[in-house]
Amino acid sequence: MYEVNMKKYKIGLLKGDGIGPEIVESAVRVLEVVGKKFDLDFAFTPYLIGGAAIDACGEPLPKETVEGCLNSDSVLLGAVGGPKWDTLPGNLRPEKALLGIRAAMGLFTNLRPAKLYPALKGECPLREDIVQNGFDIMIVRELTGGIYFGERGYREGKYGEEAYDTEAYSRMEIERIARVAFETAKKRRKKLISIDKANVLETSRLWRKIVHELASEYPDVEVSDMLVDNAAMQLVRNPSQFDVIVTSNMFGDILSDEASQITGSIGMLPSASLNEGKRGLYEPIHGSAPDIAGQNKANPIATILSAAMMLLYAFDEVEASDAIVRAVDKVLDAGYRTADLAHGGAALSCTEMTDKIIEVL
Ligand code: IPM
Ligand code: MG
Repeated sequence: MYEVNMKKYKIGLLKGDGIGPEIVESAVRVLEVVGKKFDLDFAFTPYLIGGAAIDACGEPLPKETVEGCLNSDSVLLGAVGGPKWDTLPGNLRPEKALLGIRAAMGLFTNLRPAKLYPALKGECPLREDIVQNGFDIMIVRELTGGIYFGERGYREGKYGEEAYDTEAYSRMEIERIARVAFETAKKRRKKLISIDKANVLETSRLWRKIVHELASEYPDVEVSDMLVDNAAMQLVRNPSQFDVIVTSNMFGDILSDEASQITGSIGMLPSASLNEGKRGLYEPIHGSAPDIAGQNKANPIATILSAAMMLLYAFDEVEASDAIVRAVDKVLDAGYRTADLAHGGAALSCTEMTDKIIEVL
């Protein structure tokens, strides 16, 4: 029977390249099951992005894709890029599409949670005494500013041919991401570490100044600064000291990969990219893994957990989101692993892992 009260959500799918289509397909299957269970009606529409779009229409981010995403309630993305397109000029590369869609949707906040699953303690490359207390970190990465979007180009320099990229951050950009970080910390363990390179960079000095100014508005949040080189070390020396991290686009890119590896595998980390409206775009933090593309070997969990983040942040469907997170926990607790976590031992394929998660749901 057709249910009048069923909540309807239009979800844009950006499958992209490499393992992108497989992992997005997995997340869609999970969403469909969760939808039935919680009376949610998802309408999925695929749009081309990255190398797939270059092959089909000669550009990495077609206009229809941008319009489709802007008209969706939320967007789920797999991954873009691959060796086939690596020799294209910078503005025609698949990665350019990712930056383009982030800019077009105004996704200035990137939430990247990295936590150690008890079941995966053995996969963590850190010594046991370092992770005995586990860790649960939320990286708040600025996503539409900094060196990723600054002026760049080629010029004649003192020694001939020279390339340059520039980092610029405005007060507005720093303030809005810092506010998201303070608010995020308020809802967690109330500890915020702002990561910068203020001993060298002017942008970092402005960043630090503004974070300190805002601190007085959030008296219940303990805030401190950390230089990025030290932070890279502290993440492997004592990850449990971190609760919420706020940092620039590039530092966040680098530190979130590091944080993912200490959870056991980069195949585990989801992310939410948000604008003011909060509906945003959801994607695993890993890339398109061309080496295993099309082989049904990828770990779909990061994308499935990204779908769970979508339910929580975009649609406020707390129970449905929790159901997915709990199902993933259970499957991991039961010892099921994809190849990235199996150390050459018995491994489930991407579809088998998805089946297991659906079974639990
Ligand atoms: C990420 C990726 C992207 C980034 C690349 C593919 C442009 O590494 O989402 O972390 O640097 O933001
Ligand atoms: Mg990255």
